[in-house]
Amino acid sequence: MKKLIIVLICLIGADFSGSAQNRPAGKQFKAGTSPAKQGLSILQMNNGKKVYDLYCQACHQADGNGVPRLNPPLSGTVYVNGSKTRLIDIVLKGLSDPIEINGEEYNNPMAAHDFLTDQQIADVLTFVRNSFGNKSGPVSVEEVKKQRAKK
Ligand code: HEC
Repeated sequence: MKKLIIVLICLIGADFSGSAQNRPAGKQFKAGTSPAKQGLSILQMNNGKKVYDLYCQACHQADGNGVPRLNPPLSGTVYVNGSKTRLIDIVLKGLSDPIEINGEEYNNPMAAHDFLTDQQIADVLTFVRNSFGNKSGPVSVEEVKKQRAKK
C-alpha cells in the first residue's frame, strides 16, 4: 500500500512538472504580431509548433525553408497556402508526386503522418499556415476529421 502511494505521488509530481513546462504559452507570439488578431488561437499555434518540432522540422527545417532538392520549403507555397483539403491530405497520406517549388524539383516521397491525431494535424497546419511568412488562417479539427473520413 505504501508503495502504491509513493508511486501515485511520483505520478502526480511528474504531471505537475509536465504541465509547468507547457505553461509559458503565448511567449513566442507577442502582442503586435498577435495571432489572436488574425483569428488564431495562441494555444493552437503553440501546440502546432510542438508538433512541428517533433514531426516536420527534421526535413522542412526550423525556418520552414526545407533543404534544396531534398525537402521542399513550406514558406509561400501553394500547397501550404492553397486548398486546405489538399494540405490535410498531404499530412494524412504523404506525397510522392514530383513537385516543383521556386524552380526547384522535389522527388523524394514524404511519408504519411496519419498517426497524428486530428487535433495535432489541425494544430501543426495552423502553425505552418501562419509561420515562415505565411498568413493563411487556421485549420480546424472538424476539417481534419472530415478529410480523414474520406480516406
Ligand atoms: C522525412 C522528411 C519529411 C518529413 C518528416 C515531413 N516532410 Fe513534408 N515533405 C517532404 C518531402 C520530400 C516532400 C516533397 C514530396 C514530393 O515531392 O512529392 C514534402 C512535401 C510537403 C508539403 C507540400 C510541398 C510544400 O513544400 O508545400 C507540405 C505542405 C509538407 N510536406 C508538410 C509537412 C508537414 C506539416 C510535416 C509534419 C507533420 C511534414 N511535411 C513532414 C519531406 C518530409
